[in-house]
Amino acid sequence: MYKCAIILAAGQGKRIKSNLPKVLHKVAGKEMVNHVIDTIRTAGIVDINVIIGKGAELVKEKTTSREVSYSMQLEQLGTGHAVKCAKDFFKDKDGVVAVFTGDAPLITSCTVENLIETHIKENNYATLLTSVIDDPSGYGRIVRSAEGVEKIVEHKDCNEAELKVNEINAGMYCFDIQSLSEALEKLSNENAQGEYYLTDIIEIFKNENKKIGAMITEFEQTIGVNSRVELAKVEKILRDRINKFHMDNGVTLIDPNSTYIGADVSIGQDTIIYPGNYIEGNAVIGEECTLYPNSRISNSTIGNGVEIQSSVIIDSTIGNETTVGPFAYIRPESKIGSKVRIGDFVEIKKSTIADNTKVSHLTYIGDAEVGKNCNFGCGTVVVNYDGKNKHKTIIGDNSFIGCNTNLVSPVEVKNNTYIAAGSTITKEVPEGSLAIARAKQTNIEGWVDKKGLKK
Ligand code: UD1
Ligand code: CA
Repeated sequence: MYKCAIILAAGQGKRIKSNLPKVLHKVAGKEMVNHVIDTIRTAGIVDINVIIGKGAELVKEKTTSREVSYSMQLEQLGTGHAVKCAKDFFKDKDGVVAVFTGDAPLITSCTVENLIETHIKENNYATLLTSVIDDPSGYGRIVRSAEGVEKIVEHKDCNEAELKVNEINAGMYCFDIQSLSEALEKLSNENAQGEYYLTDIIEIFKNENKKIGAMITEFEQTIGVNSRVELAKVEKILRDRINKFHMDNGVTLIDPNSTYIGADVSIGQDTIIYPGNYIEGNAVIGEECTLYPNSRISNSTIGNGVEIQSSVIIDSTIGNETTVGPFAYIRPESKIGSKVRIGDFVEIKKSTIADNTKVSHLTYIGDAEVGKNCNFGCGTVVVNYDGKNKHKTIIGDNSFIGCNTNLVSPVEVKNNTYIAAGSTITKEVPEGSLAIARAKQTNIEGWVDKKGLKK
């Protein structure tokens, strides 16, 4: 059967008090709406339409890489009105449309699959996801009779008996497309909030004798984020889930409560992660790595057996058995080879460092291509910027760069070379040579005495 989904994401999110549309707030490093999109895709639905309104352009921009389509809700007149705005998306289709909200990112693909399966298997016209909680305040209540679900009543419209119902509407549903299309035309806004409620579709179906099902799930999966406090709560739940996933896969987290791993990170077996690590974006960490405390690793690929300590690595690649830090900064577009040493207070920017090269301390390498088996002395600076333009430095294999060397770019240092400490290199260093580029030492004998400076 044909399946598609729509995601409600047009609301303002007043209670979160933000200039950013609510659905773009991140949990575990990813926008809430993108969690929802990815979960639905994992559950096997390809065709997804996002209903946008408040901050529409930004929501579009942040979701565009996921290849969804959009419907515009210019005025936020309620969840039923929002779905109506997506009518062009589904009106010529036949099958199931699943509806989700962009502010409930904890729903799992397994539950989405079950919901759709239940809907199809039971031949329902509508299937609701519900959950039973102690304190249902704020949520729509599921009103049942002996025959099953009768209707959903919003908290603000509940009578006393309804207020006591603790089965709540998760705001996630499956509908028969054609029946939904017809029923949307019958919604009214005569209720406590003066809104067109999507939830009223249930009573309309009931009156038309269309079969309604309900699937109960754990409350955790249905939590909607309306405030920063709920955002933090959801962040914690998701982080625990992610951490458990990695531990189950054979990753040691010394203290899961202070380890922050993004939703799309992958980590190899027998890697050990100490507290204070923040791993985000599409980072890939290999096997048997040790991440000592306090690093940030963003969108980077780390090989196997790598050791990293108190460092920042962004949009870069690190080869096998390389060590990084403490206190190294690897900036975007850097490619570090295998068995390389990037030591303390070393900054690498947009550079390639080939295998076995050691850059142990206090060094800046920017816009450079460095060969293998090189050794950088303490305090080397690649002078890549002339105040106007960036230039490139190329260093061959087996080069020994003495301490406190400046390499004024553009410049090339050929294979098998030595540079004397304190040199400022401005010209090519030919293969096999030693370059010395500093003033010769002169000793003025008896100078201290002559000046009367002797103590
Ligand atoms: C809704 C349900 C309620 C359910 C709860 C679960 C209705 C009428 N109520 O209430 O039964 O228990 O979710 O969390 O559906 N949105 C739009 N356009 C609008 C209004 C809302 O796109 O005009 C979007 C919002 O951006 C949000 C979602 O719909 O992502 C839900 O809206 P919200 O106002 O948070 O609904 P609730 O009051 O929480
Ligand atoms: Ca909500």
